[in-house]
Amino acid sequence: MTVVETDILVIGSGVSGLYYAIKSHKLGRLMIINKLEKYESATYYAQGGIASVFSSEDSFEEHISDTLVAGDGLCNRDAVEVVVRDAPNRIKELIGLGVKFSKAPDPVDNDVVYDLTREGGHTKRRILHADDLTGREIEVSLMRAAENMGVRVSDHRMAIDLITINKVLGIKGGQDRVIGAYVLNTLTGDVETVLAKLVILATGGAGKVYLYTSNPDTETGDGIAMAYRAGASIANMEFIQFHPTCLYHPEAKSFLISESVRGEGGILKRKDGTPFMAAYHPMKELAPRDIVARAIDSELKKSGDEYVLLDVTHLDPDFTRKRFPHIYNTLLKYGIDMTGQPIPVVPAAHYTCGGVVADLDGRTDIRGLFAIGETACTGLHGANRLASNSLIEGLVFANRVAQTTEPYLGDKLPYETIPPWTPGNAVDSDEMVVVSHNWDEIRRLMWNYVGIVRSDKRLVRARRRIEMIREEINEYYWHFKVNKDVLELRNIATVAELAIRCAQIRRESRGIHYNIDYPHKDDAAWLKDTVIKKQ
Ligand code: SIN
Repeated sequence: MTVVETDILVIGSGVSGLYYAIKSHKLGRLMIINKLEKYESATYYAQGGIASVFSSEDSFEEHISDTLVAGDGLCNRDAVEVVVRDAPNRIKELIGLGVKFSKAPDPVDNDVVYDLTREGGHTKRRILHADDLTGREIEVSLMRAAENMGVRVSDHRMAIDLITINKVLGIKGGQDRVIGAYVLNTLTGDVETVLAKLVILATGGAGKVYLYTSNPDTETGDGIAMAYRAGASIANMEFIQFHPTCLYHPEAKSFLISESVRGEGGILKRKDGTPFMAAYHPMKELAPRDIVARAIDSELKKSGDEYVLLDVTHLDPDFTRKRFPHIYNTLLKYGIDMTGQPIPVVPAAHYTCGGVVADLDGRTDIRGLFAIGETACTGLHGANRLASNSLIEGLVFANRVAQTTEPYLGDKLPYETIPPWTPGNAVDSDEMVVVSHNWDEIRRLMWNYVGIVRSDKRLVRARRRIEMIREEINEYYWHFKVNKDVLELRNIATVAELAIRCAQIRRESRGIHYNIDYPHKDDAAWLKDTVIKKQ
């Protein structure tokens, strides 16, 4: 078995992992791993943009206020302040690293300035973007910058589990210390023991827990599940954000229609062409996302239709083609010309607001273990994330972690106590059907029972099923040789159970958690996070 010793192990190579690596590669030996190919991460597919106060007509106070309003009472104000106030510095640094954001002539003096768009919940134009491929521009630029600095991402490596001192020495209680991770090389099937003084979880979110999601295949909640198994606190997993507008098309997998399409004037309509958002919120199409997603859900339930329409046919076709080239061209491939016909859309799971509890410097409650980006729950998003606040969260906290981690590199760690990985027996290929069946079952049950609208009864059913499935997976996991599908299945099952348990704990409706048995917000009892820790 291969043993690799490094100083810092970064798990995940989206915006948070790459930016952390760029900021700290000089601290010591740094290894960054990605379970698929180069660039594959949620960052790469982010369309809309990155929020920051960049106009003289905007202010930190307004960005803070919009974030707090979206978060519906549960944001940690300190986290919000830290992100909003540091955002312009991070963006300037991105520009310095080669990121090219879209520009446009200033309407007042015709100077060329960064083009700022709007999305739901924002009272000002404050979203920088690179056409409608913002994430791709950031990911590719950061990867290039990291490579130029000598940072290499090891692809096809999936972390299986964290290794901690308490676990290897059989200690119960007291503060634990991470000392590495077991990592599967998904090409060879070998498991490597990676010894590290610092482990940075930057694995993204968990949208794949749901049948319909805007997320790419990478998002199986790996960091959250591993941190939970290792004993770290996990919070607010009931707050899974549904994006209101994913393309409805039998051949399209996870194709998002960016909120900026509504920001530029797109109108939501019933299939018969009647606009409906005015009946739900005064901000209509630009109401916070939870309200728009629930409005669409309610329209679909009332009509029995499979989708609603997003209409931009009233906009200048040249503007639409220029502003949304990726969306326009992708839709054309599916036979839809968005300049001349409305787009069929449905809501889909999009963003995990909860995650591994992390303080303002990314520390979790296991020493040496840090969480950043969508994997972390820093308190920025509260009960609902404001659109385009996530890429910036990743940057701000990656930078803060980079300022914090050096002292941990001096710790002396008992690497000699780490047991080698014990492989299971060979996989009987007939059994892989169990894996694909369980994948499908979890994602369907989460969609049907733990979706946009929840009830106590559905949550109880979901809990019962997921507990049975987890038992089956455990049996499977310990008897067979691990592979990526089995590891991801084990992780989505864990994250699904965490989401159900958090949803059961919160006996109110707030932000993106809506339970018909408690349809109102209860500030007296529930102005707090739902925190779960493995006993
Ligand atoms: C979008 O483009 O609609 C996604 C933006 C976000 O989720 O922040």
